Amino acid sequence: MTQTPTTSKATASDQSTTGRIQQHRRYLMCRPEYFTVSYEINPWMHKADPTDTSKAVRQWQSLYDTYLELGHEIELIDPIPNLPDMVYTANGGFIIDGTALGVKFSVDERRGEERPFMDRFAELGFEVVEPVAAQEGEGDILLAGDTILAGCGFRSSIESHREISEVFGREVVSLKLIDPRFYHLDTAISVLDPVEGPGGVEKANIAYLEHAFDEPSQRILAERFPDAIRVADEDGAVFGLNSASDGLNVIISPRAHGFEAQLRERGYNPVLVDLSELLLGGGGIKCCTLELRGAR
Ligand code: ARG
Repeated sequence: MTQTPTTSKATASDQSTTGRIQQHRRYLMCRPEYFTVSYEINPWMHKADPTDTSKAVRQWQSLYDTYLELGHEIELIDPIPNLPDMVYTANGGFIIDGTALGVKFSVDERRGEERPFMDRFAELGFEVVEPVAAQEGEGDILLAGDTILAGCGFRSSIESHREISEVFGREVVSLKLIDPRFYHLDTAISVLDPVEGPGGVEKANIAYLEHAFDEPSQRILAERFPDAIRVADEDGAVFGLNSASDGLNVIISPRAHGFEAQLRERGYNPVLVDLSELLLGGGGIKCCTLELRGAR
């Protein structure tokens, strides 16, 4: 079910009273026509539990419609039979400045998605780089201002972090995930918006779940993002952080009540979209959303 913003329904050039500015987004999504849980590669997946593919499609459609209502642009990739996790397009790669680094899954079950995603990026006009080291795309790689935050611990390899910095010529900050429920970086950190500095965009506002990270990573996050929203476990555990922000509107799970209130306090406009069926595969809003940056 989609709840559109109650007070300040956003339009393409909207601005909230607290100065948050909406930015245009272009996303890649995949309709979950073949969604089911036929293997278990994260603690959320249980083969024995029934899944309802038509419900997954309806919920996914409400996310798609919400993005369009907010003025964003959506590209699609065709779903492929027997690749039930393809709906989680965030894992398909990582794209900035018109360059798409493809995905190299650490789990065999999803390796069939690698080529189709790279082919789609090429079709959309991106320069495609085939990865050498195992890494799971925007599931573990997040652009925060000028910096790239990269997760490891469960899926993406630490070797991939060097490759990412070489491909994009940007600073990469490695963060280690330690709680198996939060096995991808995008389940534990949400990038809310860029912050302008003297040299353009430099930093970003983020929200995160502190204890999803090891202690050195917690220290790095506290130093770099002193103003970050610290989210409670109960909000993280309903995939509250697995959200998509355009700088003003933040699409989140309707179950993340505490995070919703924190966002409102900071002048963001939470928009609630329920993807409960897709959570059975261990994914949420952000997992179903890959940002396409640059190239036309
Ligand atoms: N079942 C999928 C997997 O375990 C879920 C992926 C979630 N994606 C994400 N970006 N966190 O690979």
